[in-house]
Amino acid sequence: MPSEDQFKKIISHAKEFGFIFPNSEIYDGLSATYDYGQNGVELKNNIKKYWWLSMVQLNENIVGLDAAIFMHPITWKASGHVDAFNDPLIDNKDSKKRYRADVLLEDYIAKIEGKINKDITKAKKRFGEAFNEDEFRNTNPNVLRRTDEINRINEKMKAAFEDNNLKAIYDLIVDLNIVCPVSGSKNWTDVRQFNLMFATELGSVAGDASTIYLRPETAQGIFSNYLNVQKSGRMKIPFGIAQIGKAFRNEIIARQFIFRMREFEQMEMQFFIQPGTQQKWYEHWKENRIKWHKSLGISNDNLRFHDHLKLAHYADAACDIEFNFPFGFKELEGIHSRTDFDLKQHEEYSKKKLRYFDPELNENYIPYVIETSIGLDRMFLAILSHSLNEEKLEDGTFRTVLNLPAPLAPIKVAILPLVRKDGLPEKARDIMKTLQINHQCHYEEKDSIGKRYRRQDAIGTPFCITIDHDSLSDNSVTIRERDSMIQERVPIAELPAIIDKKVNINTLFN
Ligand code: GAP
Repeated sequence: MPSEDQFKKIISHAKEFGFIFPNSEIYDGLSATYDYGQNGVELKNNIKKYWWLSMVQLNENIVGLDAAIFMHPITWKASGHVDAFNDPLIDNKDSKKRYRADVLLEDYIAKIEGKINKDITKAKKRFGEAFNEDEFRNTNPNVLRRTDEINRINEKMKAAFEDNNLKAIYDLIVDLNIVCPVSGSKNWTDVRQFNLMFATELGSVAGDASTIYLRPETAQGIFSNYLNVQKSGRMKIPFGIAQIGKAFRNEIIARQFIFRMREFEQMEMQFFIQPGTQQKWYEHWKENRIKWHKSLGISNDNLRFHDHLKLAHYADAACDIEFNFPFGFKELEGIHSRTDFDLKQHEEYSKKKLRYFDPELNENYIPYVIETSIGLDRMFLAILSHSLNEEKLEDGTFRTVLNLPAPLAPIKVAILPLVRKDGLPEKARDIMKTLQINHQCHYEEKDSIGKRYRRQDAIGTPFCITIDHDSLSDNSVTIRERDSMIQERVPIAELPAIIDKKVNINTLFN
């Protein structure tokens, strides 16, 4: 299926099956804002649960935090967000469309990469087993020319962004003949900076003094509490603080469904370390986090690292874990070596000492920080797009199935009495009572069993249990597994163990 069609299918499936609704739909919606429906909220909670388990529960030196969304306004001056949390924007005068200048350039590079990949795929087909990709990349004139071009653009981009040289960014867009995807013209305005923070007033007094911001990242709540946590928890470096919470950004070009929203959720962890050890821990967290994504069944082909060319104001190294969304490889998670920038800044602005006394070194210092920061909504979209499949069955018909990792599924077990009479509903509800204390279950007696199976496939339910007349006498039921569609007759007493073996979150660590 072409990727654009696939993306449309994901969006309509998400709405039809209660995962994601457009916000304020009865008033024609509010752009780039979405609500999670009855199945969406379960899937989202399960992703959070898995992240928390992996990051907090299984790491004895990482603890949690839940800081407020509002923070003292000086926080954002100190963190650099008031002065530097900007997007470089450019408008096309003909289409009146606004773009992020860096995204226009990155899309241009992605097109060249696409051409290289096409050449490689063609050559692979031609040479078969004998094909050596590295050799091809290093010798094929077309690939070499294109790789050179990418490197040249990257260098210019890096220099322009590091110097905050908006004119150089504009010149690069013009020199590369980049056209507006809507109007096809090169009639661009200058590049300008736009601050992304939402501001509001605290209390009833208006004016600069009472301006506060909706946090654009959860990280600053961690930094401002780092000593509270360290002292009250008697934490020793290296240690981490993890948090899940809402963040807000006035994105100019909010698009691509829940990929870029104005209100979204982050799962962030700041890992506090000795200065000088940042390279080691940066590599450690890169490896740890990519493993986490793979444990959810996402294949190597759909994940990659992308090193940042334009380093944020706080970082000495940074990369993204990118996922192959239906609209191409895009950032899913960021791993940043934030140095001591944030704590140093807070020390300076607050005039409070934020140093850690290291008993091993017998000295005080401001810790360095490695951050892992993943967008929960983007993770949700990655899981959804990775799992939604259209399958051709043996009889030639099709089924839509959401092959979610079983522990993340919104509903783990559907309880389906074959008919709505003869004591089957009562028996079914008794079974449900024994299972629902451990698992999210769903009871349904309407429609044919085939239709009910299809509805459960579409929301990713790993198990359907059918209760029939024999169940009343032999205390057995039919259990159907979502992916294989295999149906087995099993004693009711064995259900908890069979289900738990597959849906328990522990299975993700195998
Ligand atoms: N504390 C560091 C930080 O906030 P970031 O790269 O700006 O870094 C981290 O954001 C993650 O948050 C991203 O990788 C992405 O998954 C998610 N994210 C950022 N902006 C978003 C938006 N507008 N909508 C949805 N998710 C977003």
